[in-house]
Amino acid sequence: MFKFNLRLGGLLAVLMLSVLLVACGDATSTPAATTAAVATTTVAAAATTTQAVGAASPAVVDSGSNAVTVAGQINSALPKLAKKDKYRVGFAQSESDNPWRLAQTASMKAEATRLGYDLVMTDAGGSTAKEVSDVESLIAQKVDVIFLTPREEKPLAIAVLKAKAANIPLFLIDRNVDQTQAKPGRDYITYIGSDFVKEGQTAGEWLIKATSDKAKIIELEGTTGSSPANDRKKGFDDLIKTHPNMQIIASQSGNFTRNEGRQTMETLLQAHPEVTAIYAQNDEMAIGAIAALEAAGRKPGKDIIIVSIDGSKDGIQEIVDGKIGAIVECNPRFGPVSFDTMQKYVNGVQLPVQIINVDRFFDSSNAKDLVSTAF
Ligand code: AHR
Repeated sequence: MFKFNLRLGGLLAVLMLSVLLVACGDATSTPAATTAAVATTTVAAAATTTQAVGAASPAVVDSGSNAVTVAGQINSALPKLAKKDKYRVGFAQSESDNPWRLAQTASMKAEATRLGYDLVMTDAGGSTAKEVSDVESLIAQKVDVIFLTPREEKPLAIAVLKAKAANIPLFLIDRNVDQTQAKPGRDYITYIGSDFVKEGQTAGEWLIKATSDKAKIIELEGTTGSSPANDRKKGFDDLIKTHPNMQIIASQSGNFTRNEGRQTMETLLQAHPEVTAIYAQNDEMAIGAIAALEAAGRKPGKDIIIVSIDGSKDGIQEIVDGKIGAIVECNPRFGPVSFDTMQKYVNGVQLPVQIINVDRFFDSSNAKDLVSTAF
């Protein structure tokens, strides 16, 4: 009887294995299913890595050195980039009013210099309209390729389409455009940057723990209409909504700058003195908020818990000084990964439609050791 059961068990196991193999075969033979599966897996991998990094991270992280990719089809009708010894590379920067932007520009310039390419850079100075005309000017100058960091999602999608119409390959770096207007692989080559939704979620997860799941939160948002402001809000707010004792009492833009972060915080503090936590969508606004809190006699880091995003030197120093609790990194060192991706495109390598940077996480356990590695 026992022998018979063993045999029957073996037979059943073989049968189940065959069913599984057939199922796998079906999935891989359907292109749509394969792409979806790859994309889901890689996005999930990015999420895990973002959370897992921390004290064990390398000293200085080049933005693309351990990026995670999202598979997808790059349309062969997109503008091509011929092999050349030297390129004229257009780079449209949105503004230069904070350390993050300066670090991004420095990284792009350094890599262009290292490769011996001409970098034709424009700076929109915080004006979305100017950035649209900056891209038009790069098109008129007939640069070989354009790297664009779009200030706002919707208006810059139009500029992306203009580059495509002019047959100039365009890569989005750092910020994205409205996906209903322009898509990677169809209208521009690919997107290289951080997972902003995940950044917001990670900040929220830390804040929930740090406040024992009970807080009255002020949210300082970045530039209205920009992809980091939209996505960081989504990641944070969607998570916080599921925690009934975590309450967002006010949410307002500080435009990603220290000064506007301070001014916004001054106003909100008067209207909401009951605040116990601040989520600042970047370090500069967090530092501005600290100034406003201290001027009002409040104690950042003690009676008001702060979490932010970026990982600037000044920001991490605030962790060392006990005023900011934690920072989710958003790495601005785009030079190496941008030019490497461009080279791959020249060489006909099949590119993913998204290249997601792996960011670190800073808190009191590693801030002192890592502050010197920050921008
Ligand atoms: O797009 C990235 C964001 O833009 C950074 O968090 C911020 O500091 C910058 O202005």
